[in-house]
Amino acid sequence: MNQGPEQWTAVDEYLSEHLIGSDPALDATLEASRTAGLPAIQVTPCQGKFLHLLARIQGARKILELGTLGAYSTIWLARALPADGRLITLEVSLENAEVASRNITRANLSSFVDLRVGPALEIMPKLLVERQNPFDLIFIDADKVSTPEYFRWALKLSRPGTIIVVDNVVRKGALADASSSDASVQAMRQFIRELGAEKHVNATVLQTVGNKGYDGFALALVTSVP
Ligand SMILES: C[S@@+](CC[C@H](N)C(=O)[O-])C[C@H]1O[C@@H](n2cnc3c(N)ncnc32)[C@H](O)[C@@H]1O
Repeated sequence: MNQGPEQWTAVDEYLSEHLIGSDPALDATLEASRTAGLPAIQVTPCQGKFLHLLARIQGARKILELGTLGAYSTIWLARALPADGRLITLEVSLENAEVASRNITRANLSSFVDLRVGPALEIMPKLLVERQNPFDLIFIDADKVSTPEYFRWALKLSRPGTIIVVDNVVRKGALADASSSDASVQAMRQFIRELGAEKHVNATVLQTVGNKGYDGFALALVTSVP
C-alpha cells in the first residue's frame, strides 16, 4: 500500500475498529451531526479516546472546552469525569449548540455538561468572574485564528498541573512555512512562539495523521501561574 492519506485512513479505521468499536451514543452523535449539516471537523475516534484517557490520567474534575460543534469531543471528555465532575463547553453557533445539546442529552451527560453559546473570548472572562477556575484540563478547538488569545486566557483559568491541549496546530505541515498567507497558519505560528517562550508551561506538539489528514496536537502542562 502507498504511504499517504489512504493508508492513514485505513490504519485509523483499523485502530478504531479494534480499540473503540461501535458506541451507540457516539455513533448517533456523528449521524445526527451529519444529518443536521454540521461539517465533519470533529476529532477522530482515536483522538477522542486520547482526550478521554488524558482526562482520566489527569484525574480531571473540571474541564473547559472551546469549540463544541456537535459535542463529539465533549462526550469523550465528559465520560472521563467522576460523579461530581463538570465540563463547560463554549460554542459560538446557536445551530451547532442545538445539535450538541441533543447529542449530550442522548448520551446521558446533561448533568455533567454546561454548554454556553457565544464567542469564547467573551465567555472566558466571565468564567473568571464566576470563579469557575481553575480547570484541570482545557481543550482548545474553536476558530484557529484566535488560538494565541485562547491560550493566554486558558493560562488565566489554570492552576499548576492543568493540562492544555490545542488541536489543529500543524495544518498539513504549513506550520513550518513562514511565508504562508493563511491567517490560521500565522496564528498557530504565533501560538507556538508564545508557547515556547512561556515560562509557566512545559509543552510539546505531536504531529498526527489519520482520516482527518495531517495535523497535530499541542500539549502543555502548566507548571506555575503568573
Ligand atoms: C473544530 S470544531 C470543534 C470540534 C469539536 N471540538 C469536536 O472535536 O467534536 C470548531 C467549533 O468552534 C466553533 N467556534 C468558532 N468560533 C468560535 C468562537 N469564537 N467561540 C466559540 N466557538 C467558536 C465553531 O462554530 C465550531 O463548532
